[in-house]
Amino acid sequence: MPRAKNQPAPAPESVEAMIDRRYGFAAGRGRGLAANPVLTAILGRGSCRQFRRQAVPAPLLEAVLAAAQSSGSKSDLQACSVVVLRDRARCRRLAAACASPWLAAAPVLLVFCADMRRHRRTCARHGLPFAQDNLDGWLNACVDAALALQAALIAAEGSGLGGCPVSAVRNALGPVSALLRLPPGVFPLLGLALGYPAAPASVAMRLPPAAVLHEEFYRDCPEAELRAYDARRHAREPIPPAKQKRTELYGRASKCTWSLNVARQLSVTERADLTAFLRARGFNP
Ligand SMILES: Cc1cc2nc3c(=O)[nH]c(=O)nc-3n(C[C@H](O)[C@H](O)[C@H](O)COP(=O)(O)O)c2cc1C
Repeated sequence: MPRAKNQPAPAPESVEAMIDRRYGFAAGRGRGLAANPVLTAILGRGSCRQFRRQAVPAPLLEAVLAAAQSSGSKSDLQACSVVVLRDRARCRRLAAACASPWLAAAPVLLVFCADMRRHRRTCARHGLPFAQDNLDGWLNACVDAALALQAALIAAEGSGLGGCPVSAVRNALGPVSALLRLPPGVFPLLGLALGYPAAPASVAMRLPPAAVLHEEFYRDCPEAELRAYDARRHAREPIPPAKQKRTELYGRASKCTWSLNVARQLSVTERADLTAFLRARGFNP
């Protein structure tokens, strides 16, 4: 609702408060730190899967794509390529191939690819062998593509857009590669749906620092921390029945915590055909 003229603007949330919201408890981190637009955008972000019809202006998309290319790149190898889809029919075909119907309504779909083809061509142009055509080279290219996606997403969110990464493009590697006409050596790592959000982002609760951050060396975090996270998260963001994983195997749980859902998901192998696909598409994993 718009603010009345004589009402003061709400005080910007402190960094500490934003961090507390992210963790779901008073973590006492970032105390006294002044907020800035980048921290505010990142700490308050959430994935967006519902978009207004409004088109993304071309200069904004160009800036988002330049931001993607501004991310760091392993050894400056620049191993990422991005396919930009705006044609509605093609967006619908990608959504259908990935079995992700919500994608069809995203005004822009980007597909971030790990591109080893350009490296192969570069070596060939200079008459040198492409000896780094291996698993490490593929991993480096995937890391470049993932970092580029994240830079694009942060730039988009900071500019009022919403977005969501899409690993579902890898659910249909063959059809997606065919739709995008990806040649051998170009791997569709992740999609990114972008558009103006239909609703404000919600902040998903993350694991506590005690579970993720390690001072000086790694220690397994106490089970109690993980159980407490499950309880906090279930109280604030219970997983709705429709979002429970693998109900065909395990049925619906009366209380499906985050860790139960993770365990259910990881109990089944996904994309077992990945290595075979890579070999067939000119990679040497
Ligand atoms: C690498 C990656 C792949 C993802 N793939 C999908 C996807 O295929 N479909 C989807 O709906 N969300 C996808 N997401 C979004 C995650 O579900 C989301 O980031 C996660 O639930 C945390 O929520 P938040 O981003 O709102 O904090 C992906 C996120 C990442 C980082």
